[in-house]
Amino acid sequence: MASADKIYIFDTTLRDGEQCPGAAMTQPQKLAVARQLARLGVDIIEAGFPIASRGDFESVREIATTVRGPVICGLARCVHADIDAAGAAVKPAGKKGRIHVFLGTSKIHREFKLGKARKEIVRLAIDGIRRARKFTPNIEFSPEDASRTEIDFLVEVVEAAIRAGATTINLPDTTGYATPEEYGRMFSEVLSLAQGASDVILSTHCHNDLGLAVANSLAAVQAGARQVECTLNGIGERAGNAALEEVVMALRTRSDCYPHVTTGIHSRELVRTSRLVSGACGFPIPRNKAIVGLNAFAHSSGIHQDGILKKRETYEIINPQIVGWGKTELPLTKHSGRAAVASRLKHLGYTLRPAELQAIFSRCKEIGDRKKFIYDDDLVSLVGAHIQNPRETYSLVSLHVHTGTGEKPLAEIALRCAKQNHFAIGTGDGAVDAVMKTIDQITGLQGHLTEYQVRAVTEGKDAVGEVSLSVRFRAKSEAVAGRSAATDVIESSARAYLAAINRWLAESGRASAKKTRRALANP
Ligand code: KIV
Ligand code: ZN
Repeated sequence: MASADKIYIFDTTLRDGEQCPGAAMTQPQKLAVARQLARLGVDIIEAGFPIASRGDFESVREIATTVRGPVICGLARCVHADIDAAGAAVKPAGKKGRIHVFLGTSKIHREFKLGKARKEIVRLAIDGIRRARKFTPNIEFSPEDASRTEIDFLVEVVEAAIRAGATTINLPDTTGYATPEEYGRMFSEVLSLAQGASDVILSTHCHNDLGLAVANSLAAVQAGARQVECTLNGIGERAGNAALEEVVMALRTRSDCYPHVTTGIHSRELVRTSRLVSGACGFPIPRNKAIVGLNAFAHSSGIHQDGILKKRETYEIINPQIVGWGKTELPLTKHSGRAAVASRLKHLGYTLRPAELQAIFSRCKEIGDRKKFIYDDDLVSLVGAHIQNPRETYSLVSLHVHTGTGEKPLAEIALRCAKQNHFAIGTGDGAVDAVMKTIDQITGLQGHLTEYQVRAVTEGKDAVGEVSLSVRFRAKSEAVAGRSAATDVIESSARAYLAAINRWLAESGRASAKKTRRALANP
């Protein structure tokens, strides 16, 4: 029997996934996700787009410095400054560093986005790849919008890219427009028409605008692709990217259809990785999400339950334990010590600095006073909320809200800023509104809430309520996100709102934070 070909799993959660609005992660969160991706067994981590910002550069560099195992990749346009930044960011990974250069090739991209003729596109691609090869021999090239590129031109660009030294050719369905038949055909045609295509790795990169990202990725594998680009929970631009857990489990569960391929993913890490990503980026996992959703293995109909009890396979195509469900960990309680919290966090993929660990430990104690058990999901949410929030200009000292049927809610709040406590009392249309307006009295800011979501992290009446919100502080400025978790959703709302304020002050410059502290210190 011929041995199966390896399918390289290229995870782009930290690049295409993080790029989507509202999914921004902090550097420590990205590092925790990257470490867990290594444990999951992905082959390549696309850690970011180094030219995009100082923060992106730093986090790609930190991941390239500290995460061992997978290849670490940085994205670049076919522009020298981008390529040089990506080269410098992945350098600490040594032989395991990859640069991924991309350039639009479809007619619509050439004419309207780039204003360049075919010849010029080929020249730019060659020039970009040659530049990238000065940093590493491991070069991936993506003709962006490949699935809408004329096949003759696609073949011409791919041949030129291979001659220039690209070792992986990714053919993205950038707009999620292709059908599985079309996408698979494109791979077959490139493999048979482009000289050198069988000597490099062909890669898929599918977006989910028509809900076809996973189906398209599988069609490409059938047609000869040997790398799949995907993200945990399918997060990504617009409707997202192909979900890693779905691609991997489809290949494995239906190995009768894909007998020629195998991945190196440790499937028992899937659920844990999915939760870590969800906690880090603040995107809840839909209950009905395949493989990792809470309902993915919940059987509610009596007929199904009866069948499952008689023989699991009657209604279950995957053993839930294989993807990491069902392993009950002992939950923490208020009696758990710092070492127990640190060990659970480590198990969940987080290595925190002592000050961060102390902060999470204190929050666990506070929550443990009100809630019997602190589950892994509670911890992920606490860490997500804590390390997403930058240095605090304001912190919550106390909060009292009086409300009742037919009464206007009244909030009494004390905040700490510049080593002093500041008190205010205010009202609002609802309890949350009263809290935010009262906080505004102290800070002198006026936040306009553009998004507000609350979710129970675990089950039960004492569940931790996680609040995610976005606030705009000036008419034309971008909304700032804030997140927090507490057993009381009003407290959680206040903390999330403060997190957004602290972030706004941090992002709009230290000067304004200093000015605020000075003003409050000398009223
Ligand atoms: O969707 C896309 O085309 C991309 C490229 C950068 C590969 O994300
Ligand atoms: Zn993409």
